[in-house]
Amino acid sequence: MQIEVAQGDISQFKAEAIIVNWVEGAATPAGATASVDKALGGLLTRELQTLPQVFKGKLGETCVLPTYGQLVARYVVVVGLGSVEALNALQLRRASAAAIRACGKLKVKQVASLLHGSDLNGSDLQGAGGAENSPERLARLLAEGALLGDYQFMLRKGKKTAESQKESAGNEDEELGGHGLETLTIVAPQAEQLKAIELGLGLGRMIGVHTNLARDWVNDSANYVTPTFLKTQAQALQGVTCEVLDFDQIRKLGMGAFELVAKGSDEPPYLIHLCYKPSGKASKKVALVGKGVTFDSGGLSLKPPASMELMKMDMAGAAAVLATLKAISEFKNLDVEVHGFIATCENMPSARSSKPGDVVTAMSGKTIEVNNTDAEGRLILCDALTYAQQQTDPDELLDLATLTGACVTALGKVAAGIMGTSDDLINRVRAAGEQAGEKLWQLPLYEEYQSFLKSDIADLINSGSKGQAGSSAGGMFLKAFVDKNRAWAHLDIAGPAWVTSDVPETPKGGTGFGVRTLLYYLYNLN
Ligand code: BES
Ligand code: MN
Ligand code: ZN
Repeated sequence: MQIEVAQGDISQFKAEAIIVNWVEGAATPAGATASVDKALGGLLTRELQTLPQVFKGKLGETCVLPTYGQLVARYVVVVGLGSVEALNALQLRRASAAAIRACGKLKVKQVASLLHGSDLNGSDLQGAGGAENSPERLARLLAEGALLGDYQFMLRKGKKTAESQKESAGNEDEELGGHGLETLTIVAPQAEQLKAIELGLGLGRMIGVHTNLARDWVNDSANYVTPTFLKTQAQALQGVTCEVLDFDQIRKLGMGAFELVAKGSDEPPYLIHLCYKPSGKASKKVALVGKGVTFDSGGLSLKPPASMELMKMDMAGAAAVLATLKAISEFKNLDVEVHGFIATCENMPSARSSKPGDVVTAMSGKTIEVNNTDAEGRLILCDALTYAQQQTDPDELLDLATLTGACVTALGKVAAGIMGTSDDLINRVRAAGEQAGEKLWQLPLYEEYQSFLKSDIADLINSGSKGQAGSSAGGMFLKAFVDKNRAWAHLDIAGPAWVTSDVPETPKGGTGFGVRTLLYYLYNLN
């Protein structure tokens, strides 16, 4: 879907459907919605007032009204903004996503939208995270929401024959998407706004497109998304350097923990290092590390079928890092030097697999007793963290990983866990998440949890917490590989990386969680 900007009166705009909005509980519309209402002889006000049981203007609620030839557009899509007192970024994004999905169901190709929020005056937008209702911000949120809401994973749907189309007619799931929308035009009444809208649109587009790219990678199956696939994607990026360590180099560098996980599979593992350098002097150096287990069977500590079913998503951290590097390499105006490290392999049972109880030496020199081969994420990440710090000595180090089921138990699919060595860094990442519409909740790394890492025969054990504080235990393990005084944050995204309920801006499946937070975090450093 292309998103464009035009100046004019939306009620006259040449599109198949036009999107307007409604504040919850409002008796009359304002601004562009009012001009559409007027062009329709007051139809909106009449219909919406007589149908309060159908449409109240609640956030994300939609109502489609045919225009019967009174406008160029065949349909008016009214989307609820929710209550004005609380109108914030999430509302603007969600309203936009919901409206786009309603248009998708209409099977139209050309749609136009007013700029949600622009008809409300600034003071109405208090609670919007401090930001005012600048056209730039509103356009960014509109574009983000539209792209996120329009997303559908279509890569593995077979080419449709006329026959199969007939069969699937009326199937709600199929109708939900593939949406087929070609163009969304943001129609602004004033020419002075166009520049700011373009600017916001550029940012929103970057954020939406790359979140959707990460979603594609997470949604796609493990027989397509292999470590080699991720390597190929990384090498295809323009505007960044890409170094790839293969299995031989991983071994030679002494990454015994990474090697132990990778050796059970026939798919070759890689440690990918991407680097983005700003054209001028860098204000800061950041290293991002992503867990890229393209399939996690558990290894010989095999997962039961129900837990294994979704383990193609165990590379969601890697997808977020890769998509973020792609976004900044294309957008270019970031003053921060960013390194992306992706440790990618499969975790499989085989005659070559590691056995529970094996002891290995990690790149840092620490020895690890692997009592559970299913706690593989921390094993590949500990070596990737050591390598990332040795190579780049970053000011700030972040890792993203679908690390523990315990984090899903603790926070559900609603929020990621975040923990680390610097409250300042953690707070900034959480604030970026807030701006981005992604929740991160801090979990502790108390000294007492150190006891979880105790092994009788090695320096550390990879799974020692036995039903207690599993996410913090994972964090403590990783912390043992982070240099003293390094600002480091670990994001356990096991919950929100994959969702099963359908929220307008987050369709079920892979969510691309982390891309938006990372982008806001990085651009906030600018
Ligand atoms: N990839 C899983 C964690 C996971 C679980 C991600 C559910 C997404 C949804 C990870 O490798 C794992 O298996 N963790 C173990 C750790 C345990 C053995 C210490 C877990 O959570 O059970
Ligand atoms: Mn595992
Ligand atoms: Zn895993």
